[in-house]
Amino acid sequence: MPHPDTGLDGEALMTPVTEIAYAKVNVALHVRARRDDGYHALESLFVFAEDGDRLQGWASDDGAIDLTIDGPFGATLDAGTDNLVLRAARALQAYLGEQRGAAIRLTKNLPVASGIGGGSADAAATLRLLARLWDVRIDDGELMALALDLGSDVPACVVSATQMVGGRGERLARHAVEGLDACPMLLVNPGVGVSTARIFAGWDRVDLGPLDGSSLAALRDSGRNDLEAPALAIAPVIGDVLAMLAAQEDVLLARMSGSGATCFALFRSDRALAAAAQAVRQAQPDWWVMETRIRRA
Ligand code: C5P
Repeated sequence: MPHPDTGLDGEALMTPVTEIAYAKVNVALHVRARRDDGYHALESLFVFAEDGDRLQGWASDDGAIDLTIDGPFGATLDAGTDNLVLRAARALQAYLGEQRGAAIRLTKNLPVASGIGGGSADAAATLRLLARLWDVRIDDGELMALALDLGSDVPACVVSATQMVGGRGERLARHAVEGLDACPMLLVNPGVGVSTARIFAGWDRVDLGPLDGSSLAALRDSGRNDLEAPALAIAPVIGDVLAMLAAQEDVLLARMSGSGATCFALFRSDRALAAAAQAVRQAQPDWWVMETRIRRA
């Protein structure tokens, strides 16, 4: 009998491949310049949460890519042709000249358009998923070129480990910072989606200087998210989120991620994380709150 979600039966049913689209967090994000191509030159320390969206894939031989979406934020996402999972799958098929297909189930646990990767992480996880499912060998450089074509954050999301990111997102360097591995992390989104392009357009074009990622203290004291100001202008509630996070006990650092509106806080202990999560949920039951930790580099 065909599987109710995927329409597949037989062998394929038994061998789903799973990938997690880890949530991305910019511990600091310095915007250094607006480039002639309209993108912005960045310096950013990317870390990834242990949790995120989930993708499951079943191989098929008919060349079709079938996408089903479920999960807490599934209803807010369109499974149409612009969906980044479908775009990633088609890009890999085109690159391979591949006639194999797949049924993909995306369980959307992360809020959409929220500064923590979402679509970029899904696209990256799709590339990893299909490479495994179709057992393809693809040169790292080629994979990264495909990824960048899908979005500036997609190459970093393919790697999904702590790294310094430059250029518009294509310059990647693994970068360990003492105290970040497995650090307890809270993600909070006040329920507003913001457009990345619009936030970047609101950057005031003042370069406030390079990013010192040498230690957690440097990241806290001299690190910034230069998109906080333009994001706050569009969604002032972000200021409430930041104030609430900064007021929690044993918080190491609280800041907005990416172009917002999701903000994060790093904590000294699991206990402090749990207490903060409870406090935020109690004060703002409508906000999205995720307790997680930073993926090991
Ligand atoms: O690359 P991606 O499609 O994810 O970027 C979305 C939008 O964000 C771009 O169209 C651009 O306006 C802005 N952006 C930027 N500089 C970057 C990354 C994104 O201006 N480095």
